[in-house]
Amino acid sequence: MADFRSMTGFDEVNIATWDARAAVHAASPQYAVDRFGGDPSYISDVVAFDRPLLGDVSGQSGVHLQCHIGTDTISLSRLGAEMTGLDYSVASLEQARELSTAARAEVTFVHADVYGAVEALGGARFDFVYTGIGALCWLPRIDQWVRVVRRLLRPGGRLFLREGHPMLWALAPARPDGLLVVDAPYFEMEQPTHWEGSVSYVDSEVALAHTDTHTWNHGLGEIFSALLANGFTITRFVEHGSIPWDDKPGQMMPIGGGEWRLIDRPERLPHSYTLEALLR
Ligand SMILES: C[S@@+](CC[C@H](N)C(=O)[O-])C[C@H]1O[C@@H](n2cnc3c(N)ncnc32)[C@H](O)[C@@H]1O
Repeated sequence: MADFRSMTGFDEVNIATWDARAAVHAASPQYAVDRFGGDPSYISDVVAFDRPLLGDVSGQSGVHLQCHIGTDTISLSRLGAEMTGLDYSVASLEQARELSTAARAEVTFVHADVYGAVEALGGARFDFVYTGIGALCWLPRIDQWVRVVRRLLRPGGRLFLREGHPMLWALAPARPDGLLVVDAPYFEMEQPTHWEGSVSYVDSEVALAHTDTHTWNHGLGEIFSALLANGFTITRFVEHGSIPWDDKPGQMMPIGGGEWRLIDRPERLPHSYTLEALLR
């Protein structure tokens, strides 16, 4: 693990929160875990959204970084990719392995910190790295993350990222007057932003044992610059007017396919983005 990582000291708090969320997420309607066992053709809403931009991945090897409970990893394997999922939450991986058995999917799940992924995966090179949907905000340094992605890809390999927009993540929590107020950092900061809350982002009343989180935002320019400096060509960048979770409860509405958008003048804000980059 890189030195800067062990020095941050926020990992244990974040891991405890993800471990506490895993079973709650697996039981939630949003993650629709039951659908996988019953219907062999079912794929997650997240991957269904990605499909037109993702294209054909059949026969390709892919690694899903920060795979959580594996719903998207298993969905990609159902599209014909040979998938490996990686996460640092043991409880999330327990759910992922259980789901993969129920779904009769052949997916490998590996326990590791993203920053140690190259070593944990034995130096393997993949056709594509898939990640996002609430992944980058847990990572302190985007440049170090890009260097890991680079070492996980074969030459010509592809990074496919759909992520919450950093502008959305710079906003204050939902306000009754509907105004969008920029209150948190847009740029990557040395120190994280600290959040507290008693529930997760899924429909569940279960009070979580661990709720503190520490997150980092990364501006689009920082992400682009890190990719360009590390030998990537950016081949696609699309901003979306929706996001696959209720990011501002009371201020967003579901629009189908598991996507949410602002009720009032959603055109004010890019909610999420898809970025595709090829390693030269
Ligand atoms: C919101 S989930 C990722 C989104 C995923 N697409 C999903 O919803 O199923 C965030 C995941 O990132 C994992 N995570 C956060 N920081 C990590 C790190 N440094 N290394 C590995 N996993 C990490 C957490 O354990 C959690 O499972």
